[in-house]
Amino acid sequence: FLPSLADSDDFLQCLSETMPSQLVYPQSSTAFMSVLESSVQNPRYLTNTTVRPLCIVTASAVPHVQAAVRCGRAHGVRLRVRSGGHDYEGLSYRSVRPEEFAVLDLSRLRTVDVRPGEAAVWVDAGATLGELYYAIGRADPRLAFPGGACPTIGISGYLSGGGIGLMMRKYGIGADNVIDAWIVNADGNVIDSVASADQDLFWAIRGGGGESFGVVVAWRLRLSMVEAMVTVVNVQRTLDQGAAALVAKWETLILRPFLPDLTIRVIVQDRHAFIQTLFLGRCSCLLRTIRAFFPELGVTESDCREMTWLRAMAFIGLSSADAPVEGLLNRTNDLSTYVKNKSDYVRRAIGRAGWESIFQQHLSRFGAGLMILEPHGGVAGGAVPDYATPYPHRQGVLYNIQYRVSWGAEANGTAAAAATGWLGELYGYMEQFVTSNPREAFANYRDLEIGENVVGVDGVTTYESGRVWGEKYFMGNFRRLAAVKGRVDSGDYFRNEQSIPPLLQ
Ligand code: FDA
Repeated sequence: FLPSLADSDDFLQCLSETMPSQLVYPQSSTAFMSVLESSVQNPRYLTNTTVRPLCIVTASAVPHVQAAVRCGRAHGVRLRVRSGGHDYEGLSYRSVRPEEFAVLDLSRLRTVDVRPGEAAVWVDAGATLGELYYAIGRADPRLAFPGGACPTIGISGYLSGGGIGLMMRKYGIGADNVIDAWIVNADGNVIDSVASADQDLFWAIRGGGGESFGVVVAWRLRLSMVEAMVTVVNVQRTLDQGAAALVAKWETLILRPFLPDLTIRVIVQDRHAFIQTLFLGRCSCLLRTIRAFFPELGVTESDCREMTWLRAMAFIGLSSADAPVEGLLNRTNDLSTYVKNKSDYVRRAIGRAGWESIFQQHLSRFGAGLMILEPHGGVAGGAVPDYATPYPHRQGVLYNIQYRVSWGAEANGTAAAAATGWLGELYGYMEQFVTSNPREAFANYRDLEIGENVVGVDGVTTYESGRVWGEKYFMGNFRRLAAVKGRVDSGDYFRNEQSIPPLLQ
């Protein structure tokens, strides 16, 4: 258990005795702010009122991670672990409430060791998805990993929340493809999750949230074979060209069992539907499938772009067909835009009239945001039971909705209020169309509006406060997650505003 009062001087002294001083950036360091900002994706949480860390530990080897945990435990300073910094609520580098904490930044730990002969890869916790894709594609163009579209996402946050993406219909979500992981636990010891035979811990870290069970330092992932050429097709339709009917038809295709090679993701914004297609094969085969099942899309050969899987990841992630694949290695962040996101799941088709009303009453309004519709089905859906990993949104789920609003970092409070107000209204309107009891939400699209932990008088997060948000993210898996937490971190050292509370049996 932690001492009740943090002793920050002793903590910093402990760090200085256990790792090179150039890896630790206290607030007094001139580089503190630039290191803090280095992977922040939502600068909304970098203001003067943000609760900032005492220091940033930029671990470059596993013993530094162990030292940070042991010093933190000994001197009452909690750690916020950061890999890619994409947490929508910034919980990997800020605290909502005043408390003394340090950021353990893993971005220096980023070796990617592809083993083509084993169709597997060991990837260090601080690597990004782009770095992973690049290393895989360079090692063997026929190997692939089913990750997300944005290349700067950290592999650890991505897998810790499950990880959904454009190839999950064929290969499952990211977490389905984890075959081993090394974790530094709350005692500062390194555990090989498979060799230790702790099945429950291995289950929990594959989708149960990163902040609760320890610090993952490396992941071993299964790779999948892909065709030498895959096909990307992007088309756009306006409301006048039948966008609402198109989205309604798309909903009816998702659970068709014969289409796992085909993923059609839809982004709706203003009066448009942007339809982004990844087909794991050649254009001729894609056209046969689309003409048979989705002729309304009107796709022709001239819409097809055939390329290697690696190039497709660069095209999709960097939004440019000509982007060199080295662009996937770029970790530069953009601090000009504030964002707020929310999520939902749809299990019953909304239909044409519903989509017309969403477009007309919400998306077409001035200053509106957008919705990203990520199809499930295939292996990500029915083929994997809801309890196989903590990610429970499987059987019968048609798609995930991500809502996103943004406004300029320099804009005044009115712009922020307009954007978040619009989002709140749309989220309320969508209640009639989406899941209920619980209203499901995606852990990787963190949203503190659905609930925050309460710490009890014993200094430990209460189980009941966690249930409020936790059953939305994890449904029937929440209780098992809390039981694992109770066993591996009963003193609740690894915690934040939405960490799993320990359930003591
Ligand atoms: P970050 O470093 O902020 O960590 C996120 C959480 O994981 C924090 O709680 C952190 O403490 C914890 N954590 C990080 N590393 C850890 C470690 N090594 N051990 C233990 N805990 C650790 N998601 C998705 O599934 N599919 C998608 O397509 C997208 N697309 C997308 C686009 C954009 C632009 C953004 C900003 C986000 C997404 N996401 C997404 C969501 C993304 O997967 C989610 O925010 C991840 O948690 C980000 O992981 P990072 O490592 O970058 O975040």
